[in-house]
Amino acid sequence: MRLIVGGLLVMACWASVVRTGEAQMIVAHRGASFDAPENTLAAFQEAWKQKADAIEGDFYLTKDGHIVCLHDKTTERTTGGAAKLKPAEASLEQLRDLDVGSWKHEKYAGERIPLLDEVLATVPQAGKILIEIKCGPEIVEPLRVVLEKTTLRPEQIVIICFNQEVVKQCREKMPQFKANWLTSYKQNALTGKWSPGLASVLESLDKTGATGLGTQARDEVVTADFVREIRKAGVECHVWTVNEPAQAARYAELGFDSITTDKPAEIRSAIQSGNP
Ligand code: G3P
Ligand code: CA
Repeated sequence: MRLIVGGLLVMACWASVVRTGEAQMIVAHRGASFDAPENTLAAFQEAWKQKADAIEGDFYLTKDGHIVCLHDKTTERTTGGAAKLKPAEASLEQLRDLDVGSWKHEKYAGERIPLLDEVLATVPQAGKILIEIKCGPEIVEPLRVVLEKTTLRPEQIVIICFNQEVVKQCREKMPQFKANWLTSYKQNALTGKWSPGLASVLESLDKTGATGLGTQARDEVVTADFVREIRKAGVECHVWTVNEPAQAARYAELGFDSITTDKPAEIRSAIQSGNP
């Protein structure tokens, strides 16, 4: 009897820290960016067409105070080398003048850098958006102003960022929205150790008040024990960027809340079929 009760207790503890048996939210990374030019309205529309649960996009503040969707520090790559503007040093008008579709395929010629409002407007009733902030805390107040006006419900919006100060300020100033802290990892060539380690990750989550962790899909670091400890801290677990079916299956098995991918349709079907 004592053995049975003990066993049940262990199972209950396990279930409280590991999320099992629930479908992962599929997040379209920079939109459905394998098929369409990243961070454009075409990519976000394609993501919804591919039945993504959520879209993820990257955002900067322009010189004249607008919030625009762009991944890199400059526009060079996504304009096919035609212009090298830094969002913080450019006006909305200058940025909107650029063609950010042709580099991917001529059929996307004329795609423009979207404003955050325009990206928000693509989100359907049942969809979510992960707003990744790529600049510093100067964006927090303008972001609050834009989000105050959106018709989306607070639970449809998640702010994500590598910058701890941004996460902290978003939690303080917009507690109605989740804000997740993002981290990647580097390996020390001499010791082979990856950093940040678990203790440091937990400390950052605590310090920022983040509602979740968005972790790089670094298989060497992100083990079942790692996930269990993050769960114990009472926060969500999200992973990016997973484009290989077998790797997606691994993260689904680990019980992640979401998987961010450039290929939402393919990754969902791989996870659902259970046959990556
Ligand atoms: O979802 C987080 C992920 O998008 C961070 O990496 O470089 O693609 O913005 P990056
Ligand atoms: Ca991103």
